Amino acid sequence: MDRLDPNRLPRHVAIIMDGNGRWAQKRLLNRVAGHEEGAESVRAVIETARRIGIPHLTLYAFSKENWQRPKHEVQALWQLLRRFIRSERPKLLENRIRVRHFGDPEGIPEDVYAEFASLIRETAGFDKLTVNLALNYGGRQEILRAAALFAEDVRAGRCNPSDLTQEAFEKHLFTADTPELDLLIRTSGECRVSNFLLWQLAYAEIYITETLWPDFREPQFIEALLDYQRRERRFGKTSEQLRSSIPPNS
Ligand code: IPE
Ligand code: IPE
Ligand code: MG
Repeated sequence: MDRLDPNRLPRHVAIIMDGNGRWAQKRLLNRVAGHEEGAESVRAVIETARRIGIPHLTLYAFSKENWQRPKHEVQALWQLLRRFIRSERPKLLENRIRVRHFGDPEGIPEDVYAEFASLIRETAGFDKLTVNLALNYGGRQEILRAAALFAEDVRAGRCNPSDLTQEAFEKHLFTADTPELDLLIRTSGECRVSNFLLWQLAYAEIYITETLWPDFREPQFIEALLDYQRRERRFGKTSEQLRSSIPPNS
């Protein structure tokens, strides 16, 4: 059986956790039951990332577009987040897992956000594993926000438009202190990015599985990581260059 190479683990994995509704539908349950079972998969992937030593995990839990869903489903998702925060808090603290938010606090029910914000504060000093929850998140919105923050720096005289490099811009993204995105996983077979991490996806490896999110647990996560480790990341170079470490342009 294939074994994971501990020296070639991705440093940053992002997951589009999709397929909760279909999982429930297949069992003649309501969609919320699918989200509840999906929360168990969130626990499982956090635990696996911690155990095998992946330092950064970004989980897409609620998009800007998800506000268009039926009101009762949206409400149920925020209540589920609150229950998740309450039940996981002791384990997160014990395992020194840092939790952060990627997205817009504006719009998230205030009482839920208050509990989320206090978990973020309590875990801010931890660095064993960082879990970024993408909530009320959109990739285009993140890029616009970064552009506005840069413009504000220019207006305040802290820099000039000509200082705008990739590095300078990235400082204003939610991923400012996070390594490059190595691997994007999407469950439930959809081949689209749904407004997730648009900037950061530039050179990420993409893994799409038919498995629905509530069925995605440790074995499925390990399979995705093994698939990642079988790939050759060329970053524009040729295979021969990578294998013989010939310097570029020679
Ligand atoms: C993903 O599952 C969870 C969220 C988007 C919150 P879905 O609810 O999108 O499940 P499907 O795509 O309808 O099966
Ligand atoms: C993407 O899933 C958002 C999350 C997983 C939170 P969706 O189910 O909302 O994506 P689309 O709308 O089918 O692309
Ligand atoms: Mg979906």
